[in-house]
Amino acid sequence: MEKLVILDFGGQYTQLIARRIREQNVYCEIVPYNTPYEEILRSGPSALIFSGGYASVYDEGAPRCDRRLYDLGIPILGICYGMQVMAADLGGTVELSVNQEYGKTRVRRREEGELLRGLEREFIAWMSHGDSVKSPPPDFTILAESDNTSVVVMADGQRQFYGLQFHPEVIHPPQGGRILRNYLFEICRFKGDWTMENFIEASIAEIRNEVGEKDHVVCGLSGGIDSSVAAALVHRAIGPRLTCIFVDHGLLRKGEKEQVLSVFREQFQMRLVFVDAAGEFLARLKGVADPEKKRKIIGNHFIRVFEREAEKIGSIDHLVQGTLYPDVIESGTATAAVIKSHHNVGGLPDDMSFSLIEPLKYLFKDEVRRVAEELGLPQEIVWRHPFPGPGLAVRVIGEVTPERLAVLREADAIIIEEITKAGLYREIWQVFAVLPGVLSVGVKGDRRIYGYTVAMRAVTSQDGMTADWYPIPYEVLGRISSRVVNEIPQVTRFVYDLTSKPPGTIEWE
Ligand code: XMP
Repeated sequence: MEKLVILDFGGQYTQLIARRIREQNVYCEIVPYNTPYEEILRSGPSALIFSGGYASVYDEGAPRCDRRLYDLGIPILGICYGMQVMAADLGGTVELSVNQEYGKTRVRRREEGELLRGLEREFIAWMSHGDSVKSPPPDFTILAESDNTSVVVMADGQRQFYGLQFHPEVIHPPQGGRILRNYLFEICRFKGDWTMENFIEASIAEIRNEVGEKDHVVCGLSGGIDSSVAAALVHRAIGPRLTCIFVDHGLLRKGEKEQVLSVFREQFQMRLVFVDAAGEFLARLKGVADPEKKRKIIGNHFIRVFEREAEKIGSIDHLVQGTLYPDVIESGTATAAVIKSHHNVGGLPDDMSFSLIEPLKYLFKDEVRRVAEELGLPQEIVWRHPFPGPGLAVRVIGEVTPERLAVLREADAIIIEEITKAGLYREIWQVFAVLPGVLSVGVKGDRRIYGYTVAMRAVTSQDGMTADWYPIPYEVLGRISSRVVNEIPQVTRFVYDLTSKPPGTIEWE
């Protein structure tokens, strides 16, 4: 398979570069800058990119790569810090923090070369650098300059080495895309045939290879996109040798259980063990108000239930996990299996002996969604918002009781329905109801009652690390408010949460 490898020098846009490249149907992987030369060689790249980074090339301990990479005879594109590394390694000089440039900058093309083919004579690029290349290495020509920087783009067309001082992956004008496409298709001559269809085919072959004829494979299914796609993919590869375990801890949203059962049992005809453990979980949560205690109880008991069910299946040879590429990159190694703890229901038992199957470990979220569509998963699962492992327990503030859960579930269902009807669901990262432990006075049917307050939270986000509250139109808020207080007898008040993260976390607990 054709592959581009990105050496990560620690820049904040490295994942973005990878996504931009994959959008062009070229497969690429990110590896740390200090990955051993032999390992890079073994992975068989047809081209390299050196990413940006924060260091100064001449600093002691600044990240540098193995110089033998320049002798591989394959194209290399250095971006920002990556360009400076290339210049310093090949005999050019880098100027330390004199002409700093940040943000949109006008760039003048001096020569086209293959990299800037088809670009305007002047174009806007996105700069973010302190240091810059003062003189390019021998055999390099300067393709573009700016008012502050004399070497903005440099090229050695013979060896196919290129350097860009700006970030082609960030700029909104089309030039950035054009430059990346020139690199991929004019210079590296990639075919651009990496599609989700090919991905599915290749991973099915790989899974079949890994799983023996008599092996037992188990997957914990939550109904979220990652575990659903992982399960569907493995199922397509090995059919009934896969058993999914779906534990209902009683903290799911309205209709979720029914949907998971109907999709995976009826539509996909999977072997699916459904465990109704709601009673066990609620009994353990009785009287517990502390959020972290609630999480621990749910996490620990989840493992116990999962183990109990897995034991009934017999010995397990493989466990399927829906790990995604960002988790793998962030763990610093593409080979280590990462078991998510916070974002997985309670983590997994330490002492089970099986190998992990992680069919999505080289995919970004948007690619997982495309695989989901290709595999025929319903839209509700493909686009479902992230949902915390401890479920509604972290949205009922204080003690979790069956009545509170029932009220929250109804309010949440109304919110989701109205947001979907208004066409806003996909624009929002997460939208949900919260039940703060606050009662408030209301008048219902000529009677003053103390009823529940329902709060609504809706945020936009890239990855859940930071978030902005979403400006829901007043008329939609009005419709939701009136339905929540009218349709749920115990509710007397509806409020909307206008807090961004930081400081407010997405969940209330
Ligand atoms: P916070 O509330 O920390 O949430 O801003 C960030 C993202 O993580 C989800 N979240 C959890 N997921 N177990 C999970 O599996 C948890 O205990 C948990 N707490 C928060 C949250 O929904 C958001 O997407």
